[in-house]
Amino acid sequence: MKDYFLNHPTNKLDKNSTNQILKTSKSIFFHKSFYEYKKSPLIELSVLAKDLNITSLYVKDESFRFGLNAFKVLGASYAVSQILKKNPNVSVFCTATDGNHGRALAWSAEKYNKKCIVFVPKDTSELRIKAISNHGAKVEMLDLNYEETCKYAYNISLKMNWELVQDASWDNYKIIPAYIMSGYLSHFIEMENQINSLIKPDFDILFLQCGVGSWAASAIWYYLNRYGSYKPKIVLVEPTESCGVFDSFIKGKRTSPSGNLKTIMAGLNCGIPSKSAWNIIKNGCDGVIKISDNEVKASMRLFYNSNIGDSKIISGESGAAGLAGLLKCLNDSKLEGLNKHIGLNKNSRVLVFNTEGDTDRDSFSKIVEK
Ligand SMILES: Cc1ncc(COP(=O)(O)O)c(C=O)c1O
Repeated sequence: MKDYFLNHPTNKLDKNSTNQILKTSKSIFFHKSFYEYKKSPLIELSVLAKDLNITSLYVKDESFRFGLNAFKVLGASYAVSQILKKNPNVSVFCTATDGNHGRALAWSAEKYNKKCIVFVPKDTSELRIKAISNHGAKVEMLDLNYEETCKYAYNISLKMNWELVQDASWDNYKIIPAYIMSGYLSHFIEMENQINSLIKPDFDILFLQCGVGSWAASAIWYYLNRYGSYKPKIVLVEPTESCGVFDSFIKGKRTSPSGNLKTIMAGLNCGIPSKSAWNIIKNGCDGVIKISDNEVKASMRLFYNSNIGDSKIISGESGAAGLAGLLKCLNDSKLEGLNKHIGLNKNSRVLVFNTEGDTDRDSFSKIVEK
């Protein structure tokens, strides 16, 4: 089986509640109201672009976002604000997470003096658990995988009357994931006086790492809504052993990943894609690539040891997956069909995101520094 899937998107957005919530998002004004707010850096790696024989390579570096080392807080904080606007009496928030979203929710609940309970799947690293509990949240590790942990969190939230803030949607659970996706829009809006220019973006191809797909869907929604047929080509990147979007494309319907769920890319090690995200992804993404742990490790090292003249970027296992997708396209002749489809060549201007820094310091150090 190939390591990639070619999609021919309709490039159309459905009219539904998620679309409506995204359209009316005020997230950027909300995020700017925090004293921790700072636009995340957009860095051009010109030496690396030259080495890769492409015209330019940009990285939006989310490793500094609100001091939390990952972009996820853009979604959780906005969702919490919208929930409390409707019902200020919510007293307990809860979620299931493989790390970054839980930390983001704990931080957001702490801001409003609310309780937070976070369920994590088996094998979640101690450092990631500590990063969540440092914000006052109670963390409970379950002997379950990510998808099962989500189901557990959903059921217990109904029983205990807690407010579940999950970054994935399913039947009858769409509004809060849509708030989260509209919170993510902030970092695309931040680039409007940079490479998201008025008529056309100043880049051609975007590589986005994917877990449940909410973040990628929010990017696709943004570029389709802003540019229509001028949207950049969008390629999603998933770990081989946990590739729910890839498997869903192969089956033609939303499905749980068929792999063994063993990957160092914890943030991308999710289950079935989010229902609302899948609707947007299938209509707007141009392809999906599967990458291995070794491929992402190489990208983490490349970011860190950036070629002389480029900035050094600290990128975690899930953070470097977008770059790993680009490198795979450029280095693996078996991906030629995809390259043709997305028009990747020496004239290409590419954007990737570093979605997390060294969120597990020990693991980062083993992979990159030693
Ligand atoms: C660092 C990082 N990058 C990317 C993602 C993917 O986001 P999504 O699950 O919305 O696809 C996650 C998800 O937690 C993440 O933690």
